[in-house]
Amino acid sequence: MSLVLPIRLRRNRKSVAIRKMVQETILLASDLVVPLFVIEGENKRVTIPSMPGVERLSIDLLILEAFWLYQKGIRGIALFPVIESDLKTEFAEEAWNPTGLLARAIRSIKKQLPEMCLFADVALDPFISHGHDGLVNEKGEILNDETIACLVKMSLMQAEAGVDFVAPSDMMDGRIGAIRKSLDDSGYKDVGIMAYSAKYASALYGPFRDALQVKLAFGDKRTYQMDPANVREGLLEAALDEEEGADILMIKPALYYLDVITKLKEQTWRPVAAYHVSGEYAMVIAAHQNGWLDAAKVFHEGLLSIKRAGADLIFTYAARQVMDILHH
Ligand code: PBG
Repeated sequence: MSLVLPIRLRRNRKSVAIRKMVQETILLASDLVVPLFVIEGENKRVTIPSMPGVERLSIDLLILEAFWLYQKGIRGIALFPVIESDLKTEFAEEAWNPTGLLARAIRSIKKQLPEMCLFADVALDPFISHGHDGLVNEKGEILNDETIACLVKMSLMQAEAGVDFVAPSDMMDGRIGAIRKSLDDSGYKDVGIMAYSAKYASALYGPFRDALQVKLAFGDKRTYQMDPANVREGLLEAALDEEEGADILMIKPALYYLDVITKLKEQTWRPVAAYHVSGEYAMVIAAHQNGWLDAAKVFHEGLLSIKRAGADLIFTYAARQVMDILHH
């Protein structure tokens, strides 16, 4: 390669037209998956103080929101039910209730907007009295295999209701294989699994737990979620999930873990997802409300960076804010 000195890289930046032509990464609405919080009732909309701009919606309003998002180019939503406290139990039975809030929400969306790709979280925390992702013994330890039996029931309920992807976010060992086998055995071969493969024990999930009204009664999630210090272990988690049958592998959170996303992309032929989580959203909104930065621009830059790092799809609460500056 012969270089003509001085090298003037700025020539390729001089107009909007050339900048668009040489742009390496393009963020599309269809790259984004929007998490939605669903509540009981009709025509109900409840704000979440730590997530301004995100609301808990009753099923009827959730459907309207899904239509609006679809019309804006969004092709995926992820459902999280807000469970009333009298339905939360030690064994989380509500998690696989075929007529519960989650099942009804899945059925309504798939009936009214079947083209929207629907993800639903598989984990016990919204349904369990102590707020952990699994069953607990008398010593306060989270029980792996007993929890998997519950996750399997929850996945079958979601599949029966019509979900496109079950999304286990619990971090129990071996759950992907168990869920895949039971889905296949029950005739749900076309229902996919999006595995939260490397889910870190992050301090960034606080606003999400507010949204779902989940409070940890004791301890923390560090015996099942990953140590933020570890990348090779995250890649191993993803490799195992892939081997057990996951269709999509997720890294969570996103912006603090771009190195993990990039390395996973090099290691797998599966699509890589990233979850731009509630704390990542709340920080930017809080700064915006103080007049310290422009949320739409910061979100766009952040989501673009997550895609540039290697994510094929991005779960984010910020879709609304970036919609108008997405590429067109
Ligand atoms: C629960 C779950 C969590 C999130 C998604 N599924 C919270 C947790 O593990 O405590 C976090 C999402 C967010 O912060 O946006 N299994």
